[in-house]
Amino acid sequence: MCGIVGYVGHRSALDVVLDGLRRLEYRGYDSAGVAVVADGGLAVERKAGRLANLEARLDEVGRESFAGTVGMGHTRWATHGAPIDRNSHPHRDATGRVAVVHNGIIENFVALRAELEAAGVEMASDTDSETVAHLVAFAYGDGETKGDLPASVRLVARRLEGAFTLVVTHADEPDQVVAARRSSPLVVGVGEGEHFVASDVSAFIEHTREAVELGQDQMVVITRDGYDVTDFVGEAAQAKPFTVNWDLSAAEKGGHEYFMLKEIEEQPEALANTLRGHFNNGRIVLDEQRLSDQDLRDVDKVFVVACGSAYHSGLVAKYAIEHWTRLPVEVELASEFRYRDPVLDRDTLVVAVSQSGETADTLEAVRHARSQKARVLAVCNTNGAQIPRESDAVLYTHAGPEIGVASTKAFLAQIAANYLVGLALAQARGTKYPDEVAREFHELEAMPEAVQRVLGTVEQVRALGRELADSKAVLFLGRHVGYPVALEGALKLKELAYMHAEGFAAGELKHGPIALIEEGLPVVVVMPSPKGRAVLHSKLVSNISEIQARGARTIVIAEEGDETVRPFADHLIEIPAVPTLLQPLISTVPLQVLAAEIARSRGYDVDKPRNLAKSVTVE
Ligand code: F6R
Repeated sequence: MCGIVGYVGHRSALDVVLDGLRRLEYRGYDSAGVAVVADGGLAVERKAGRLANLEARLDEVGRESFAGTVGMGHTRWATHGAPIDRNSHPHRDATGRVAVVHNGIIENFVALRAELEAAGVEMASDTDSETVAHLVAFAYGDGETKGDLPASVRLVARRLEGAFTLVVTHADEPDQVVAARRSSPLVVGVGEGEHFVASDVSAFIEHTREAVELGQDQMVVITRDGYDVTDFVGEAAQAKPFTVNWDLSAAEKGGHEYFMLKEIEEQPEALANTLRGHFNNGRIVLDEQRLSDQDLRDVDKVFVVACGSAYHSGLVAKYAIEHWTRLPVEVELASEFRYRDPVLDRDTLVVAVSQSGETADTLEAVRHARSQKARVLAVCNTNGAQIPRESDAVLYTHAGPEIGVASTKAFLAQIAANYLVGLALAQARGTKYPDEVAREFHELEAMPEAVQRVLGTVEQVRALGRELADSKAVLFLGRHVGYPVALEGALKLKELAYMHAEGFAAGELKHGPIALIEEGLPVVVVMPSPKGRAVLHSKLVSNISEIQARGARTIVIAEEGDETVRPFADHLIEIPAVPTLLQPLISTVPLQVLAAEIARSRGYDVDKPRNLAKSVTVE
């Protein structure tokens, strides 16, 4: 997830683009860059780190060379290539006359890069995005698309696999900017004698509120006088015009009051981006992983080390990886790990899960594991962070930046990445349950869609959240993979709503926690599938009836069509039927919404819960 902006008009393109990038910085802040068509060429500057670094650099080199009214910019959330100057966008072709900014992941970039290198191109960066600049330059320079920038971009767009929003300028076409999209966002801003393209409307809302949303596989050419939308073969296409009625601060949150609410909505995309590129002809490819199949075969034990929500993602992984691979998996709080002398050797795979990649407890656990010769695989959302740097291998989640302190989309992406690790292990080592694993493998790809369906039904959860705002405490129960989901639901409620909340394995209820049940106490129960886990399901139905009989207010998350549970549910939240091991990806979502709504109703800042920080860099 990166922020991109392009402009053609009558103002200083540099000013418009920098203002736009400032508003898009929430989409990524690993580096920033601008390109302006000026003096018959392209003036380009790029700098790693926050936008302020780029601005300081522009002051240093002088802004005079950027005097032009056509330009574009980028604020980066690194995917391919470390967050350093040379990987920053815009990327250029060898002549420096074509510049490209890109948001997304180009899955076939290895093949494209090889093709370009065979044609004598020397790559100046480690990114997938740079390939586009060279390909457009070739297309513009030769063949049927010669001298036609929109046709050149179209030709290249058709060759790309994966997700992209591209903005392209060419010094020989000083009056137009071309942009294209597939599975990444792109909106056009329609002004008087000026037009904009951007990842979202916040980039241009101070200049115009008239916008057009591009559809899948559409391309737009903006000039001072207008905009022209086509598909990737050049046929005229319909895009969706709308008027923005949000204020500026709501605009960068996509119309939401808080980033966290926006991030909850972004979960299908976060999941799709995390899974993207890892499925190839029926096989899992962990190309960022740097562990060979032989390494995976040598593993005789897995540890997952992590903190907080990331730890809960590890608990989900335990159920999946043990079942799929028959390898023992221990899940350990990173803060405990190195102080208790865990048994590790070179055949131990330690999976260190961290959104920020900076959490001190997890980093120290990684260092300890490596000192004991274990192999460490980081699952991380932040490219180039300390934990992946110190690990043997890394599998990046591509959730994009998470601004809300409480983890939502990064948590779902962690669960998905952990599944990929489990499936890769099963593939390399063989599995006792080939049919089941094959089914789960295929269903995993469909999970972003299932999350989207759940998001479409959460209005009733919000209403329930408002009703529960005055509760003193809430309990969460689950079994099997529903147990870590219950823990996560309780954590979300504690940290956002400052409400006492506990998660329990439902089977433990009668060993103590049932004493807490009293009249009116809300108890959230995460049900397994009645078909997939029939025995557990009936045991949980008994648990619910026990707590309901003691006066609890039961809130039940259950599979659509699960009629057995209905009589015991004071509130029933239905979710689609998916394989049990994958259910946490959807059953977590209503719990996030519930916690956020209770917190809002209590008047708390959902993005910045008290006493908490987004990355915890002290032990
Ligand atoms: C909870 C939350 C925290 C983090 C934990 C680990 O909503 O966000 O519990 O999950 O601090 O952080 P990372 O994943 O950055 O290591």
